[in-house]
Amino acid sequence: RVSGPCVLVLFGVTGDLARRKLLPAIYDLGNRGLLPPGFSLVGFARRDWAHEDFAQIAHDAVKQHARTPFREEVWAQLSEGFRFCPGELHDDHAFDRLTALLTELDQTRGTGGNYAFYLAVPPKLFAPVIRQLKRTRLAHAPRGAWRRVVVEKPFGRDLKTARELNALINTVFPEECVFRIDHYLGKETVQNILALRFANTLYEPIWNRGYVDHVQITMAEDIGVGGRAGYYDGIGAARDVLQNHLLQLLALVAMEDPGNFDADSLRREKEKVLSAVQLPADLATGTARGQYTRGWQGGEPVVGYLEEDGIPPDSTTETYAAVRLEIANRRWAGVPFYLRTGKRLTRRMTEVAIVFQRAPHLPFSKTDTEILGQNALVIRVQPDEGITVRFGSKVPGTAMEVRDVSMDFAYGESFLESSPEAYERLLLDVLIGDPPLFPHQREVELSWMILDPIEEYWATCGRPEGYPAGTWGPPSADAMLARDGRAWRRL
Ligand code: BG6
Repeated sequence: RVSGPCVLVLFGVTGDLARRKLLPAIYDLGNRGLLPPGFSLVGFARRDWAHEDFAQIAHDAVKQHARTPFREEVWAQLSEGFRFCPGELHDDHAFDRLTALLTELDQTRGTGGNYAFYLAVPPKLFAPVIRQLKRTRLAHAPRGAWRRVVVEKPFGRDLKTARELNALINTVFPEECVFRIDHYLGKETVQNILALRFANTLYEPIWNRGYVDHVQITMAEDIGVGGRAGYYDGIGAARDVLQNHLLQLLALVAMEDPGNFDADSLRREKEKVLSAVQLPADLATGTARGQYTRGWQGGEPVVGYLEEDGIPPDSTTETYAAVRLEIANRRWAGVPFYLRTGKRLTRRMTEVAIVFQRAPHLPFSKTDTEILGQNALVIRVQPDEGITVRFGSKVPGTAMEVRDVSMDFAYGESFLESSPEAYERLLLDVLIGDPPLFPHQREVELSWMILDPIEEYWATCGRPEGYPAGTWGPPSADAMLARDGRAWRRL
């Protein structure tokens, strides 16, 4: 799978995403031999840079963040195709210059009129870019060439705005040319959920309400909002990651066999399961939200959310969100799916835990069963990528004593090659035109339908509950599970 000749135009090239993820991913693709010789990259931003300045900035970003080793000869070849287009997103002249630059690249580098436009800009700037791509006819592919648009989340801030955004994009790009990025779908460990479920006979027979007690999906981060106050405040943990990454994980864990892995089949099954999601009857006890206060992280004191640069001192934005969902279908009826995410938690870790019911009968003495937990299959998404199975085993000795043990699969041990970064995989899929790993508009809308009532309810609740930085979140999240006689997994 190697991309054909094309140009990637990156709007928002001076941003954090471009520097930490996109530019390094482009280099890594080049280094793995997955980009064709004529591949070209155009950075567009409001800076007074020459092509060489842009190449230098990209060079520094690559050296700092690329996954694969830096090789001068790869860099030299790749950066020959780097160009910079200075300008404002509202400015007709800037887009006329961009059009001329793209024509020149087609002539000098054989890129054949194939362009991908990556909108790594805040959502309020999507509209001007889309309008310019329409005005200049850059969105319109001539015969034999393609034009695609890549949209970074957030896709709106609720169902209504997501629909408006989509309508705007669809005035210019037909649906098959729109690639919505949810970078969790680019992660190897996330794709492996489908391999685990559908390449094996072992798990699927017990992957249902007959055996599963509940499911826990956790995305914990140790970082705070850092320099992203402008984006994060008013958005919060639920819109930032629960609406997209966590609900996509839920869909992959709970969906039916898609028959094959083409985009339509996958989307169909994900949509079915997302539309069967049920909110808790009582949002007060079935959801939890929190905001970190001053605390400790890695042995260092850290400030609370309200003291972070750029955050209004009376902000009610949540930095922690948890919810108890159910899925109304034959496979899952009555099985709770607990989702949680937060910033400034004890450590960085994303996992999906399938927790099984207790054995119907335990022929052991009472003391033995007290230390025997429930069987669990844990998909460790990151950082320690792998899968753990927890089960009871006899403790060596003369007594029939049982205790929990683990069986582990670790990517690092079983596979020699390092897994590509999520953005690397997704960028390649855009250039090739392969859509299965990109959520469809309908999935985005269904996810907002799940979140909107929760957000509306929270908007009436005043301040989120405080939790000290470096802890596992607010007490109400523990109470949510305790009410069901359960507890969050200790990580
Ligand atoms: C992004 C969120 O989508 O995911 C960020 O906007 C979050 O707030 C990030 O930090 C986490 O990504 P990862 O891949 O490090 O888990």
